Amino acid sequence: MEQDFLPLKGTDHVEFYVGNAKQSAHYYQHTFGFQLIAYSGPETGVRSMASYVLQQGKVRLVLTSSLIPNSEISDHVKSHGDGVKVLALWVDDVEKSYRETISRGAVSVMEPQVLKDEHGQVKVSSIKTYGDTIHKFIERSNYHGPFLPGFIIMKPQFPVTPVGIQYVDHCVGNVGLGEMDKWVKFYQDVMGFRLLLTFDDKDISTEYSALMSKVVVNGNSYIKFPINEPAPGKKKSQIEEYIEYYGGPGVQHIALATDDILKTVSELRSRGVDFLSIPDVYYDGLKDRVGTIEEDLPALKDLNILVDRDDEGYLLQIFTKPVQDRPTVFYEIIQRKGAKSFGKGNFKALFEAIEREQALRGNL
Ligand code: FE2
Repeated sequence: MEQDFLPLKGTDHVEFYVGNAKQSAHYYQHTFGFQLIAYSGPETGVRSMASYVLQQGKVRLVLTSSLIPNSEISDHVKSHGDGVKVLALWVDDVEKSYRETISRGAVSVMEPQVLKDEHGQVKVSSIKTYGDTIHKFIERSNYHGPFLPGFIIMKPQFPVTPVGIQYVDHCVGNVGLGEMDKWVKFYQDVMGFRLLLTFDDKDISTEYSALMSKVVVNGNSYIKFPINEPAPGKKKSQIEEYIEYYGGPGVQHIALATDDILKTVSELRSRGVDFLSIPDVYYDGLKDRVGTIEEDLPALKDLNILVDRDDEGYLLQIFTKPVQDRPTVFYEIIQRKGAKSFGKGNFKALFEAIEREQALRGNL
């Protein structure tokens, strides 16, 4: 097998540019059970922006707002609303990651830099991906601070109970009509990923809309990026709705893994997280479709959790409604019990649920 020219150790963090990071941080703490761990802003000598770092399991979210009208952050929020700016990848060698991807055609955002403070040093560089989204490479083996140099330890102001979120399972991008293959090729050629799965509009279509999706995965399979594009349907597809409201391609959803989805979802529901509702009829004959599962079916039905099976096992999943007013970014909660797939058997039920929401928004 060919040497992996871009070995990745995992998702380092996901950074959102948002209108009001202070309030977003409160939302993710209170509802999703993330712990506030670090902060940078005026109090730490940063004049133009504020960032809150939240952690649960291995998942680190960074919420950043501009404090001034004219900045890259405020432009991003103006165009896209609250959304994902950075999918940061944890690497052993930032220089090499940058060099290997740039030499294969990546567009540079930031050349390798060394950031230092009293806790040590971190190397960072970044490249563009779809839309205004970027990948940052982070090398942190010589760093012992709470997040990155310049950030101070920040403690939560109120008790926060985790909900069992453990790691980022996958991050999905929506791109424009006819652009999916271009971005799949980018991940293959520039970042050394391989194509794992393809779904066409026959797999993913409802009465109204269709989409196509391909999943790319890196060498050790830690990083999985499904890429969606709209396919022609009778009405506006959910991907077109996203692209219209996001103002272009961007991150559609982040799937967060748990090892007890019943507990995680009932906790999230009790804290006010809105999930897509699935009609009772989905659960009729579910046992016949997925075979024996360990979970109690009435409990899954009660929480609207979906089940799918592949050759290697099964998975349980559920999707939130968008977490901001624009119908853009949402979350998936997933528990894998052997299955390495993405819930193809649930696409129809899921897209019909999304279309009911689109219709309520007047966008179908
Ligand atoms: Fe997903």
